[in-house]
Amino acid sequence: MLFKMSLKIEHAKFNDLDALHRIERECFTSEAFTKEHIAYLLESPNAVSLVAEANHEIVGFIVGMIENYGRTTVGHVYTIDVAFKHRRAGVGLRLLDELEHIFLERGVKTSYLEVRIDNKAARELYRKKGYTELEPLENFYAKGRHGLRMKKELKK
Ligand SMILES: CC(C)(COP(=O)(O)OP(=O)(O)OC[C@H]1O[C@@H](n2cnc3c(N)ncnc32)[C@H](O)[C@@H]1OP(=O)(O)O)[C@@H](O)C(=O)NCCC(=O)NCCS
Repeated sequence: MLFKMSLKIEHAKFNDLDALHRIERECFTSEAFTKEHIAYLLESPNAVSLVAEANHEIVGFIVGMIENYGRTTVGHVYTIDVAFKHRRAGVGLRLLDELEHIFLERGVKTSYLEVRIDNKAARELYRKKGYTELEPLENFYAKGRHGLRMKKELKK
């Protein structure tokens, strides 16, 4: 556990790709992003990719997208992954805190995300961070795998 370890949140580098892909496969099975997709995200100018490091090891990451719709800029929490053995030690909260901070700095006032309806851990994390539930997303992930959209108004 990380309770007494210091955690650093940094911008992800392309060199982190293997570590991020390893954690992604640990976190998701059929829905895991491919290595190519993570590489694309790491290079995307609209993406904010952050890693959490403890003792020089990457223990989790988050990717947010900054999306422009006309005059409105919104943040989209695209994925958040914490390595199994480092869960429940506040890593997810820290990653989300830092992403929201960067969203605000970049002019984002509203943050959105989608989550599997049966993903209790993630839904609790988002609820704790002030996200409220919007509409259900039927078959969003695959047939029978429903999602839920959540939203938070960000404040400085
Ligand atoms: C969801 C996830 C990112 C949470 O990361 P984490 O570092 O373990 O979360 P934290 O330790 O910061 O937890 C913060 C709060 O979230 C809630 N939470 C986290 N895991 C939980 C669980 N298994 N059950 C219930 N609540 C949970 C709790 O309220 C917790 O606060 P507490 O520990 O004081 O009770 C992690 O479980 C994960 O990587 N899951 C697999 C990938 C995934 O599903 N990502 C989300 C996609 S939408």
